[in-house]
Amino acid sequence: MRDLGVYAEVAPSETPASELAGRKGVIISGGPSSVYEPGSPSIDASLLHSGTPVLGICYGQQLMAHALGGHVEKGERGEYGFAQLDLLRESPLFRGLHGPQQVWMSHRDLVAKPPQGFEVLARTGTCAIAAIASPEARLYAVQFHPEVAHTPGGRQVLSNFLFDICGCRRDWSPTGQIQQIEEQIRAAARARSVFFFVSGGVDSTVAYTLCLRALGPDRVHGTYVDTGLMREGETEFVRSNFARLGARGFQVEDASARFLAALEGALDPERKRHAIGEEFVRVQQRILESEKFLNGQWVLGQGTIYPDTIESGGSAKADLIKTHHNRVAGIQRLIEQGRILEPLASFYKDEVRAIGRELGLPSELLERHPFPGPGLAIRCLCGGSRGPAEKAHFGWVLPVRTVGVQGDSRTYRAVLAIDEFPAGAEEPARLVNQSEGVNRVVVAVRTAGRIAEMRAIPSTITRERLTRLRRADAIVRRMSHESGFDREVWQFPVVLIPFGDADRPDSVVLRPIDSVDGMTASAVRMPPDLLDEMACELSAVEGVAGVFYDLTNKPPATIEWE
Ligand code: XMP
Repeated sequence: MRDLGVYAEVAPSETPASELAGRKGVIISGGPSSVYEPGSPSIDASLLHSGTPVLGICYGQQLMAHALGGHVEKGERGEYGFAQLDLLRESPLFRGLHGPQQVWMSHRDLVAKPPQGFEVLARTGTCAIAAIASPEARLYAVQFHPEVAHTPGGRQVLSNFLFDICGCRRDWSPTGQIQQIEEQIRAAARARSVFFFVSGGVDSTVAYTLCLRALGPDRVHGTYVDTGLMREGETEFVRSNFARLGARGFQVEDASARFLAALEGALDPERKRHAIGEEFVRVQQRILESEKFLNGQWVLGQGTIYPDTIESGGSAKADLIKTHHNRVAGIQRLIEQGRILEPLASFYKDEVRAIGRELGLPSELLERHPFPGPGLAIRCLCGGSRGPAEKAHFGWVLPVRTVGVQGDSRTYRAVLAIDEFPAGAEEPARLVNQSEGVNRVVVAVRTAGRIAEMRAIPSTITRERLTRLRRADAIVRRMSHESGFDREVWQFPVVLIPFGDADRPDSVVLRPIDSVDGMTASAVRMPPDLLDEMACELSAVEGVAGVFYDLTNKPPATIEWE
């Protein structure tokens, strides 16, 4: 709704009608439940008698019909996919739509009889009651999904509901909220000051900047924990951004020795993540238990954004790490004491970027690719084996295992290396399906010797390997920025794998991908000239025996190798 210029909030379906009084309109969204299942979501039925316009979508239509005495029929198989919607009568809900409409259906149960006073507005071949309305009661409902791209007229339906039926105005924009956010910060902070753990990412920097503007530089402090697992130049980049903002109380805590010690000997990806999460907790705890926080004159500012606060947001693994941070006992205590300030908690990422632009933050900061919390540690693969690559039908199976995802399950399997880029984009998926024990396909772009002579080299995370990875990553970043290729990808991990020879123990993997939200991703191919140049520079990095290029989509692989 907010992308239509209308302010909207998401509330649980059971929210009492009294709390929704005064809203311009309410949308009851869909879900996989059946109204007949015990424990399925329900609504306060008095909402439907309140005169507030209500639009039910999918399960929302069934709930509305059920609550008002209509009949919902239990479906056996359901209907999933495209359908043709025939409009049966005029309605403000369908203003501007003419003739049959393509719509997206995804439901099991069906409304078999509408409640009294409702008219049927539309049908599809298999769903006789695909839209209903009681204009006097200002109630509308549709069985199809207007909110998805597969329903091309869906935006028109939503706009009709918001602007014609509810009388909303297009007066909401994230940048119009800045003054109000600043007032909220002043009201919440009262006479107290604000302290942040800043990551250098967009969210915490925007939140920090808003606090600076609301409270002034003397009352806003921030600490950046340098884990030693950051990319080249990162700490300086963050420091210069904060200096430019006029932040006086900005500090860098060098915790790299602690993180390195915590990672000592860790080979398994999840163990590495865990060790890093735990170490973060300890560093934060120590700072929160310092004198500053004991005197009650401080609140903790956080860059939490809306998707972080809902279950479905972000990547499950990212959530795990964040939950770690939010669960630190010290932070829990501050929440209980009302000493947490989260000025961006009701905004989405693109809105936070728009606010950042309005605040004058540099675009190199606002348009950064996502970077995982555990940093380079999960891009620096470790292992204990010494085996060679094994010749397989289609190429070589490398003695390196990486994480993948199939169905909803994690896999941890070997990598298939082939000699040349295949002609079709589908080829890598076919190779994964046809090669046992493999979840990823890479092309060997350049190797110092023959793959048959390369070996797995027992490796852990060391300063030396992190420096090597940082160098390779910096080369890739510089070249993809100069060529403009970085604007064609959503993220571009560079991975170090312990596969090389006696003089050069590691190889580098390039992993440029495109994605919308990180949940699925497709591998992106870079222009051949750029790849040649890049591989040439990377091969010259000390200790690098080969350069590989990851061709696998997610699924069956994941974006990161661990
Ligand atoms: P995967 O590898 O699961 O990555 O396909 C999806 C997105 O999540 C990021 N990622 C993480 N972010 N902590 C984070 O904060 C993590 O442990 C983590 N693991 C993966 C990854 O960079 C990608 O954007």
